Amino acid sequence: MSEPITMRDARLEDCERVFAWNCAPEVRALSGDPRIIELADHTRWFQRRLRNGPMWIVEDRGAPVGVVRLDPGGDVTWISIALAPDARGRGIGRRAIRAACETYQQPIHATIRATNAASRACFEAAGFTLTSVTGDLVTYRWSP
Ligand SMILES: CC(C)(COP(=O)(O)OP(=O)(O)OC[C@H]1O[C@@H](n2cnc3c(N)ncnc32)[C@H](O)[C@@H]1OP(=O)(O)O)[C@@H](O)C(=O)NCCC(=O)NCCS
Repeated sequence: MSEPITMRDARLEDCERVFAWNCAPEVRALSGDPRIIELADHTRWFQRRLRNGPMWIVEDRGAPVGVVRLDPGGDVTWISIALAPDARGRGIGRRAIRAACETYQQPIHATIRATNAASRACFEAAGFTLTSVTGDLVTYRWSP
């Protein structure tokens, strides 16, 4: 049985760790917008984002290991997740996504690069189903 993870609300002091996870070049390359982000730009975004919608820090035995965010966009809420490299491949992503869904209890969508096998497997394992394929992006949906 895997260890439980915990999710807590992100705080101002998480700014640099979220930058390290979200803005790592290999993570940006997998996102819908692969441009490199400077820390100062991230910091401005992070301060605003803390007030606008759920953002959780994922903790594994008390240590922060990743971030999950829900972004309302029009009628749809989008999820994004990034874990520290040494936290990947241990079931933490799947459990963090499930926890976010269970807390939110409304439909959630995810757009993923078709080639991001780890992310696709992770969302599928968390109960998301494939809804569309557009170019090299795939969209998944979860509903309560
Ligand atoms: C994508 C990410 C969140 C996945 O989290 P994770 O904790 O590594 O994934 P898990 O260990 O929970 O694995 C979930 C499933 O994916 C599978 N998986 C994990 N890594 C994989 C890989 N590299 N290739 C294929 N499948 C993989 C697991 O076998 C598991 O499937 P199962 O439940 O059927 O056994 C994490 O790897 C990450 O942060 N990556 C960088 C950022 C990123 O890609 N974010 C998503 C952008 S949409």
